[in-house]
Parts: sequence; C-alpha cells; structure tokens
Amino acid sequence: MLTILDRPDRELVEQAQEAAARAYAPYSHFAVGAAVRSKSGAIYAAANLENASSGLTICAEAAALSLANSAGDPDIDAIAVVGFNFTDRAAGASRVVSPCGSCRQLIAEAAQRASGNVRVICCNGELSSIATWPIAELLPNAFGPENLTASRQWPALQEELRACVQRLIAIRKKQ
Ligand code: THU
Repeated sequence: MLTILDRPDRELVEQAQEAAARAYAPYSHFAVGAAVRSKSGAIYAAANLENASSGLTICAEAAALSLANSAGDPDIDAIAVVGFNFTDRAAGASRVVSPCGSCRQLIAEAAQRASGNVRVICCNGELSSIATWPIAELLPNAFGPENLTASRQWPALQEELRACVQRLIAIRKKQ
C-alpha cells in the first residue's frame, strides 16, 4: 500500500509510524503517531499523550502541529497519522485512523494559516491500508478565524509579538 505514495509522503508516513512507539497510552492502549511536513520540507513527528484525567489527553496530531509551531515552521502541507491498539497483535491490520473532530479543527486552521489545503494521510498500524483526504473534505464549512471579527490579523499581530519579545530580551540583557 505504501507504494501508492510518492517518496516524501512515504517518509512522512514512516516517521508517523515510528513516532507511535513514543505514545503514552496506558489507558486506551491505542498508540497514535502523527507527522506533519512543513513547506520547508522539515518533518515534525509526535505521539499521543494520555492522562489519568481523561479529558487532558493530547492527540498525536495536536502534539505534532504544536512541535511545528514551536519550531517556528508552522506552514504545513501534509500530515500523516498512524494508529493501532498495541496490545492486540491483529490490530495493526485494522482500519485506518482518521483525526478526531478536535484535531480536524486544528488542522483546518493550520491549513488556513499556510494559505492552502492540507493533505491528511490516514493509515493503519502496518501501513497496509492508507487513505488520503484534503482537510477541507474531512471538515467542510469549518469554523475559522473569519467568523471572528478581529480588528487585526495574525501577520500584523505576529510582528508586534516579535518586537515585544525583542524589547523584553533587550531589557534582560541590560540587567
Ligand atoms: N488519538 C489520537 O492521538 N489521534 C486521533 O486522531 C484519534 C485518537 C488518541 C487519543 C487517545 O490517547 C487514544 O488515541 C484513544 O482515543
């Protein structure tokens, strides 16, 4: 099934599969790895992080998007997701995992930020089943920034943020 992908997408899927090994999933036993590729070509991979307080669980997709953002490289063009139950030997061949509703919302805004669509490559554990959808198809008519009447747009605010941090650093260096 991997052969349907071009080389960069295959690399993305492989990194997602490898990231699943780093899942912290003591409750669901469902390991998820996600890998996002930024337009720079860099790949950021992460795994799900569960918590005894269930609602605090962080999905692999959210963690990977956050990694790209924190690296200052948030303009993504694709995300691969691999999920499976690691306590069930047969589960690697089960159906593909597609992002939950919250993650679709996060991916939709990442796509908008990157001024483009994002391809979501969904895989089962052994990569024998792979399905690709554009995020606009997984979350049509998404709620987004245009629903909020913000007086200033992010690119301008981001400039202000950076200038602010520069000022804070300058103050620190004078101390
Ligand atoms: N999970 C993800 O990380 N991504 C998804 O798209 C689906 C669900 C995680 C959350 C939780 O740790 C486990 O899978 C079972 O829901």
